[in-house]
Amino acid sequence: MDLLAKYAHFVERHKRMIELGVHDVGVSVDEILSPTRAMIKGRETILAGTNNYMGITFEKECIEAGKRALDTAGTGTTGSRMANGNYAMHQELEAELAAFLGREHVMVFTTGYQANLGMISGLAGAKDTVYLDADSHASIYDACSVSGAQLVRFRHNDPDNLAKRLARANDEGEGGRLVVLEGIYSMFGDRAPLKEFIDVKREYGYTLLLDEAHSFGVLGDNGRGLADEVGLEDEVDFVVGTFSKSIGSIGGFGAGNHPMFDLLRFAARAYMFTASSSPATIATSSEALRQLAARPELRDRLRHNSARLHQGFKDLGLRLCCDVVSPVVAVFVDDEPSAVTMWNALLNEGVYVNLALPPGTPNSTCLLRCSVSAAHTDDDIDKIIAMFANVVATSGERAAE
Ligand SMILES: Cc1ncc(COP(=O)(O)O)c(C=O)c1O
Repeated sequence: MDLLAKYAHFVERHKRMIELGVHDVGVSVDEILSPTRAMIKGRETILAGTNNYMGITFEKECIEAGKRALDTAGTGTTGSRMANGNYAMHQELEAELAAFLGREHVMVFTTGYQANLGMISGLAGAKDTVYLDADSHASIYDACSVSGAQLVRFRHNDPDNLAKRLARANDEGEGGRLVVLEGIYSMFGDRAPLKEFIDVKREYGYTLLLDEAHSFGVLGDNGRGLADEVGLEDEVDFVVGTFSKSIGSIGGFGAGNHPMFDLLRFAARAYMFTASSSPATIATSSEALRQLAARPELRDRLRHNSARLHQGFKDLGLRLCCDVVSPVVAVFVDDEPSAVTMWNALLNEGVYVNLALPPGTPNSTCLLRCSVSAAHTDDDIDKIIAMFANVVATSGERAAE
């Protein structure tokens, strides 16, 4: 039996993509020029599909911090945090994050994916139940499988639906209950209705883990995320975040105030059985965190840019996935061929956005997903809107109402 035979349908799909002019699963970025520009297919392209929300990937201080760490601590740690890979700088970053988040404890992981894997599977075990929003990120679903806990899905952003499921479980009543929500959902850019979910928490009792991957650094007066924005941080038991978006590097963290938090270092296999982040990565993340804290104007700029793109798309009559202004501005397209054709046309115009297709999207939707950066200028945003206008006009509008 050919083990790869089960992927035969992907071969067909890939062929169809090539026929539509998409030559690879992802674009090849020939040269990255700045947080908002790259050379793609031989031309300078505006990047409107990165998660570089703060636009600080080329910040001088971050680059210098990384270079210094390379010079003084070498290229890699060659070991786990639980062995030789626990440098003072890893612990310092945890302390800096704890101060930034106003939390007692923080664990730094090598990626955001691993932060979810480690935190969720560390918290929940075989006798427990994990309640997941149907639109949860793959890392959250994978974490649930690894944990061995029972998985119960509830309808996306539907606190009443969660309440029903919790009420049913109350009758059976065994094990702990972990609910996982996201601050901003990555595909549509919508936020969890946190207040309503916390009303349900008060009624039924559960442990809440909030993945602030797309909202950390972005939302809230202090840039701590959705819970910060709506003033409910005390009701959130555990927070997960990533360095691959607003921080502009790579890595992730879990945070909380539970007095036994540090035991998760032993329970989280995604923490224990992998090498720790390289010194350069830790140093750039630390410096980027300092920048986030010291420059709230970056968040203001991101909000301004998000609102400008959102309004521009609305004026074009595009079908937006989310009514609320968000740094993720995604557009529904009717079907896969239209989405691929439009995505390709946008690239030819000179703008890169994310082509998001099933099975990676909610409800099997096809999306052209933009994510805005604080580094975009008004002119960049206007150019992105103009390029969408051209493509909609020439493609016979499958994205417009
Ligand atoms: C909601 C969410 N959680 C976790 C992750 C994983 O983060 P990373 O890519 O930094 O590993 C992502 C990545 O896109 C995400 O969208």
